[in-house]
Amino acid sequence: MSNSEKSDFFYPNEDVIAQANVSEYDKMYEYSVNDREGFWEEQAENLSWYKKWDSVLDESDAPHYKWFDGGEINIVHNAIDRHIVGPNRNKMAIIWESENGQVRNYSYNGLNREVCQFANVLKSMGVSKGDIVTIYMPQIPELVFAMLACAKIGAIHSVVYGGFSKEALSSRIDDATSRILITADGGWRRGKKVDLKSIADEAMKRTPSIEVCICVKNNELDIEMEPARDFWLHDLKSLPIASSQCETEHTDAEDPLFILYTSGTTGKPKGMLHTHGGYAVYTSTTHRMAFDIKPQDRWWCAADPGWITGHSYIVYGPLINGATIMLYEGAPNYPYPNRWWQIVEKYGINILYTSPTAIRGLMRFGDRWPKKHDLSSLRLLGSVGEPINPEAWRWYHHVIGQDKCPIIDTWWQTETGGFMICPLPITPLKPGSATKPFFGNEIGLIDEEGNETPLNEEGKLIIKNPWPGMARTIFKDKERYADLYWLKQNNNKWHYLAGDSAKIDEDGYIWVIGRMDEVLKVSGYRLGTSEVESALVSHPKVSEAAAVGLPHELKGNAIHTFVILKEGVLPDPDLEIELKAHVGAEMGKIAIPELIEFVTVLPKTRSGKIMRRVLKARALGQDEGDLSTLEE
Ligand code: WTA
Repeated sequence: MSNSEKSDFFYPNEDVIAQANVSEYDKMYEYSVNDREGFWEEQAENLSWYKKWDSVLDESDAPHYKWFDGGEINIVHNAIDRHIVGPNRNKMAIIWESENGQVRNYSYNGLNREVCQFANVLKSMGVSKGDIVTIYMPQIPELVFAMLACAKIGAIHSVVYGGFSKEALSSRIDDATSRILITADGGWRRGKKVDLKSIADEAMKRTPSIEVCICVKNNELDIEMEPARDFWLHDLKSLPIASSQCETEHTDAEDPLFILYTSGTTGKPKGMLHTHGGYAVYTSTTHRMAFDIKPQDRWWCAADPGWITGHSYIVYGPLINGATIMLYEGAPNYPYPNRWWQIVEKYGINILYTSPTAIRGLMRFGDRWPKKHDLSSLRLLGSVGEPINPEAWRWYHHVIGQDKCPIIDTWWQTETGGFMICPLPITPLKPGSATKPFFGNEIGLIDEEGNETPLNEEGKLIIKNPWPGMARTIFKDKERYADLYWLKQNNNKWHYLAGDSAKIDEDGYIWVIGRMDEVLKVSGYRLGTSEVESALVSHPKVSEAAAVGLPHELKGNAIHTFVILKEGVLPDPDLEIELKAHVGAEMGKIAIPELIEFVTVLPKTRSGKIMRRVLKARALGQDEGDLSTLEE
């Protein structure tokens, strides 16, 4: 037990308290919820606006809230432009290392040149304000440049995680009807070249909207380039049109910045849409306050930019705050399990933000790997993506943080844009609890009838207010957004329904338990059971499929599937291998089921819905519960 541990709390040490950006929580919290607009207006003043807003919060079309409406801003103006006219000009913006040891660094000025060139390339391909550009890339600096280049000219990026495969990519391109795809020949993983362009080629066969594919040369894979459609980025950059100067478009605060597809309860992934103004204010404020960011800090969010964590806390929040960001392409344990700790030591990382899955994965190799390295530069540690089990929390705190780094466990979602529940560095911690609401947010728990649940009892997590970082809609589906996420109260106020269940204890600490719907968290990645099922039934031998998530020690959830084969097809172990490979090729490796069970019937309700609850209980050997709605 460490010195800082008293009763069930872990208290921050004096050094952390002395330098905290926010030195008091309770009073500031009270103010932030009593005068929400005042609080957020003050935060917005920290950014650079072309024109100030007419209203901080417009509730006239609730739950379609608007923030800073009437204001003009561009997030890239804040993430880059304003830094290069000041002392941050030559400061390191991005340090990138790849698994095979390549290193590239960009100052803020260098980043600006790259982004301007990329923006000019996009313009030369006819991209303009409001166009949706799909980006499918490995974790290389060009991914960040591409995102920022889109935002700079007012185009909307839709990043598809580089670990996804052709079906996931093509369905997202289709939904967005993107005309342009930005990709790379490939990436690196565990010493092997990972192909991307050929997956993109397969996807493009299914997506008639794509006219232009811009390809980054990253790992010299031998790939096909289709004339008049596919262009190398380095060729385009060498044209006179790709100058390293480009005006930043003046976008409205409520103009769309990006769409990011995320898995929900049913059907296809939803394109969550975020905007320039509120998102810039929210990501930078949460990052500055919860992670106590300082001008000299080296910040490492070890997520993939292809997910919301990377959008908000690799790219936008940290760059707006002028931090130096670390970007690493590769596996955490390649070639050895000390790879991450080597990076922390080599670059003097001050803050590391990662997922419980990664922590558990590295913990498995034992203390000797981190102990080989000087980790004293670390000041704060962060966790995101799923509840962190106390054992992993304690290891992270003790072995990595050497008992001196608070663990900032941040609860949030693609839909929320930024942290909703998280401690500040000064907050006494309880391992496994994301602690208290971030400023401006009121969190509650409700039961099936909508009544607030008593202390220490599980309920559905709700947020009782709008916040600037909230997604504005599901792309092309305003009504579904309101229906899925917002509950109207008797007093005409709206509550946001998160889809998670949680408990609140007697100290007001929030303990998130997990998803209540068919959303899985596999190694921290969000997937829907329906996506895995569609991938399975797209195989010619499969007639029906059901997927459930079972608890898994390392991954959080493991995917367990039940498959009914077509007439005349017999189950055999080779077919199981074939189906797994098929899911991998359609969706991506993360969606490959741990287990495929061949069955002849699936439990269904009388209306024909698969009862996943029953399948799950059976797989876990538990009581199947109420079966009154079961068909047979
Ligand atoms: C889960 C990731 C417990 C939760 C930023 C949420 C967490 C879903 C935590 C959103 C946390 C995220 N503790 N659970 N600190 N952070 N979750 O959209 O179930 O990929 O609903 O966003 O992750 O996943 P998403």
